[in-house]
Amino acid sequence: MGPAWSFSGERAMAIGTALPYRRGMTAIRNIVILTGAGISAESGLATFRGPDGLWEGHRVEDVCTPQALRRDRALVQCFYDQRRAALNTVVPNAAHRALARLDREWPGDLLIVTQNVDDLHERAGATRLLHMHGELNSALCEGCGGRMRWTGSLGDSPSCPACQAPRLRPDIVFFGEVPYAMERIEAALARADLFVSIGTSGAVYPAAGFVQVAHHNGAATLELNLDRSDGSGMFDESRLGPASVLVPRWVDEVLGS
Ligand code: APR
Repeated sequence: MGPAWSFSGERAMAIGTALPYRRGMTAIRNIVILTGAGISAESGLATFRGPDGLWEGHRVEDVCTPQALRRDRALVQCFYDQRRAALNTVVPNAAHRALARLDREWPGDLLIVTQNVDDLHERAGATRLLHMHGELNSALCEGCGGRMRWTGSLGDSPSCPACQAPRLRPDIVFFGEVPYAMERIEAALARADLFVSIGTSGAVYPAAGFVQVAHHNGAATLELNLDRSDGSGMFDESRLGPASVLVPRWVDEVLGS
């Protein structure tokens, strides 16, 4: 049995809060949402852990580690150039749009933490958003450490606009590197009343551990995923199905419409 989620406007007004989405007797104010590749799957972007265990035909360790970049820089640059170019062929789906609506309309704190390196959340209109694993449309200079918006190719070794060194790499957090914005994420998890995980297999830490951190801090926890993830048992409630159906339905519930 899941927790008693409810929209109960009258009761909420009676106890003097403008936030009608509740868990039992507790009004929910601060929401942290973690998204993974599953939310972009219905836009046409491949998830990381498909049935063949490959990401777009490659082993993750061949394209997504610092060692891979040192060993075969051309392969890694070409791989991410293709992923970046592929962004032009996809559009946000109903799940991205629903979260953008929640971002616009939710009066309490909200933080969308995405593991995705695509730009579909922001193209749908989300603003309270962090890319913890970096972004395809960004380059990182190994010379000066600068990060800059980059929508073209990196395979032809362009110079860094800041320091002129021809040492730009994809601004992607590779395995073994530290995700971005961990302090902000931890602070949001410490204050969260509700943690929601959407479309992620729960296979990669630290993101896979957010549910435990949030639970430990007293938050309710909800998973929306196509199938049971590695960490399903840690959530108060798991709803199974496609994100394009589950997320808009859940956002309607939260906003009471
Ligand atoms: N709706 C909801 N969930 C879906 C859908 C869908 N339409 N399609 C797939 N999923 C689910 C899968 O069932 C799976 O549990 O999304 C999850 C995707 O899992 P992964 O491919 O492992 O992606 P993710 O969890 O985002 O990977 C985490 O691993 O390789 C690294 O850095 C990379 O950010 C990535 C991290």
